[in-house]
Amino acid sequence: MKIVKPELDLRVDRALELPMYLQICQRFKTAIEQGHLRAGDRVPAVRALATELNLARGTVEMAYRILADEGYLQVRGAAGTVVSPSLPQPAILKPQVALAGQAQPAVTDHDGKAPRPLQMGLPALDAFPRKVWNRLVGHRLRGSELARLGFPDPVGYDRLRERIATYLGVSRGVACLPEQVFITTGLHNTMELTLRSLSIAGDALWFEDPGYILARLFLQNAAIKLVPVPVDDNGLMVEAGKRLSPSAKFALVTPSHQSPLGVTLSLERRMALLEWADKAGSWIIEDDYDSEFRYQGRPLPALKSLDRNDRVIYSGTFSKAMFPGLRLAYVVVPLSAVARFQAVSYNINSGCPYLFQASVADFMAEGHFSRHLKKMRLLYAQRRALTQRVFQEVLGDRIRIDLQAGGLHMLAKLAAHEDDITLAERAHAAGLALNPLSRWYIKAKPRQGLLLGFANVIDEKDALRLALKLREAIT
Ligand SMILES: Cc1ncc(COP(=O)(O)O)c(C=O)c1O
Repeated sequence: MKIVKPELDLRVDRALELPMYLQICQRFKTAIEQGHLRAGDRVPAVRALATELNLARGTVEMAYRILADEGYLQVRGAAGTVVSPSLPQPAILKPQVALAGQAQPAVTDHDGKAPRPLQMGLPALDAFPRKVWNRLVGHRLRGSELARLGFPDPVGYDRLRERIATYLGVSRGVACLPEQVFITTGLHNTMELTLRSLSIAGDALWFEDPGYILARLFLQNAAIKLVPVPVDDNGLMVEAGKRLSPSAKFALVTPSHQSPLGVTLSLERRMALLEWADKAGSWIIEDDYDSEFRYQGRPLPALKSLDRNDRVIYSGTFSKAMFPGLRLAYVVVPLSAVARFQAVSYNINSGCPYLFQASVADFMAEGHFSRHLKKMRLLYAQRRALTQRVFQEVLGDRIRIDLQAGGLHMLAKLAAHEDDITLAERAHAAGLALNPLSRWYIKAKPRQGLLLGFANVIDEKDALRLALKLREAIT
């Protein structure tokens, strides 16, 4: 007779190096995190589980002892063992030991290796004012006060929070207080902080389909139910989201420049999304990752600027506006959630290095930040136009590049019979970091295309060299 609920996967794998008792611990933690086991649920008796899994009783006993010591289980003697009734069910108590053989295949270029030609997500590294930056960092380093050698504030350096609040008010139409700005190490950290602050296991989250692949990998490993919502030329299809999961707790969106298709969320959809969030009591996470760069008209105000009922959590980053190696980003939190984010920040974050936070604050205060953005808008407009022209000329009707209004990457569409994964693999073998569009889809019918970053294509000659290389690789 089965003593374990069918959705509870407690099986162990004898082929793995991880000891059996740790595998059992891991399985229980995952089951709790994913909501299959809830606070107060009774777990199988040691003897029964040992029989079920064909293991020695001592192995299961050892696992239960560890789980009890860690606060996951409560042993009640003759009354059996239960999941601790006091256990909070945060969305992402992540497994502490990854099970061997379950590692995700690398789908990203964020791997610590030197930047590669056409790599997505990179700003123009050659054009970053390194001299100014080095001077500012050097100045902070030389002047470092004793107090600054201590622990940084987990919510962020106050002067930087002030600078960001001012910048967002002026440039993105986001009115916020410095206290609402939390400094993070990037989108992963922002998502973790957000989920731990506002979700419980099993909450649903609308996710753009296709959508940002790294966010998807993170969320698929979180105790959250990912609901793929299709995207069309006007961005996220809000009505589809409402049909698929009307009471989802979150929607993660890239309204300014949809990742990866590059389209903009229309005003009508923005209003519909805000209205849904307000009625459903849901949270919209606005990932505004590269909105500083727009080449037609003025940068669009953020979705957050229309947020009358404080349902939008606004996520920004210095990865594009400055450089990704900095690992500094920020999240603007609704007033009603500030206390919660603060408490969770103190629990899970140990803060970002003071030196870099202070240097970024100086970079902003001295006007370098806005000057740099202004220069980059012009530079990217040129690089974007020449990359499109040269690639289109060299690759002819094999690809079609329709430029979108903003961002740092473009999409070279392929005919439906092409296989973008194979082509991207061949391009990779030739040293070009192209990304196959179809990989970014979850449920929607994938379109074939190659995503490419144009910010580091330095001139016509460079573009021609890269386009010829690509043509050779894929023909
Ligand atoms: C869609 C999207 N969101 C956010 C980010 C920025 O993430 P981070 O701040 O972690 O560098 C990127 C970077 O490539 C991105 O493509």
